[in-house]
Amino acid sequence: MVVTGLIILALVPLIRMEWISDTGDLRLIREELSHFARRVEELEKKDAEHAKENEELKARIKVLEATTQRQQDELDFLNNMLTQSTDNGQSTAKGHRNKTSIHGADQVTVQKTIAHNKRRSYQVNSIQRIRQVNTDTPVAFFSTLQHTISNSGSDQQIAFDHVITNIGNGFNKFSGDFRVPIKGIYVFSTTLSPYSTHNSHFKFMLNGTPVSNIYTLETASQQIVLSLNASDTVAVHTVNAGYHVQGGGYSTFSGFLLHQFHDGVAVVGK
Ligand SMILES: *[C@@H]1O[C@H](CO)[C@@H](O)[C@H](O)[C@H]1NC(C)=O
Ligand SMILES: *[C@@H]1O[C@H](CO)[C@@H](O)[C@H](O)[C@H]1NC(C)=O
Repeated sequence: MVVTGLIILALVPLIRMEWISDTGDLRLIREELSHFARRVEELEKKDAEHAKENEELKARIKVLEATTQRQQDELDFLNNMLTQSTDNGQSTAKGHRNKTSIHGADQVTVQKTIAHNKRRSYQVNSIQRIRQVNTDTPVAFFSTLQHTISNSGSDQQIAFDHVITNIGNGFNKFSGDFRVPIKGIYVFSTTLSPYSTHNSHFKFMLNGTPVSNIYTLETASQQIVLSLNASDTVAVHTVNAGYHVQGGGYSTFSGFLLHQFHDGVAVVGK
């Protein structure tokens, strides 16, 4: 018992020291913990930043995908044009006709191809422009009324009987019809001279339907612009009966093709 008591007494300081050193460890542990807590906090902050960056990157990818799609569309369009110009005997590498898929490393190829096709498309455009100029068909007519109409019918088509210009042969001096030879934008003018005290009404007709009215107290003129298809007809009519329409060059009808429409790119190959 005594021995045991002595051993216990001898151990007490040791236990105390142990306890003291435990306290030191706890402090260390506390420091470590607070260090870890700070570290965790930092990491959480970084994590939040990464999440934000991730969102931004996702948005950026979406934009890039849309851009890529647009470029693909443009590429398809240019490829179509190039195919047509190639069929017309222009030298173009076959590779540019291939539909290019856009994935990873192919992007670089696509960029190069787009740049190349852009250059090509300028060339194609200028080829087209030159062709348009070369193939534009001149259409123009000018006719005057030589024989006075002294007592018109109602809705009578005026046959401007004295042809001065008729390039493209669209105008018919017997009927007074201008028949559109080629699709395009046309400009027409008429001058009508009742040469009397009569108030007269006239109208421009497109395919037998009035497009505008002309009122003349003395001499009146009107200009109209129409987008027309081949075979459309344009003429000048009286509205009522009993008009006097002065001949001898006082009443006129003229028109010309302002701009020819080439459907699509069909001009290539002509
Ligand atoms: C075009 O694509 C076809 C089919 O994918 C391929 O066989 C051919 O080699 C390609 N042409 C060029 C010039 O890359
Ligand atoms: C010309 O043709 C187009 C297509 O067929 C048609 O929509 C248009 O109305 C025509 N225009 C005239 C003035 O006949």
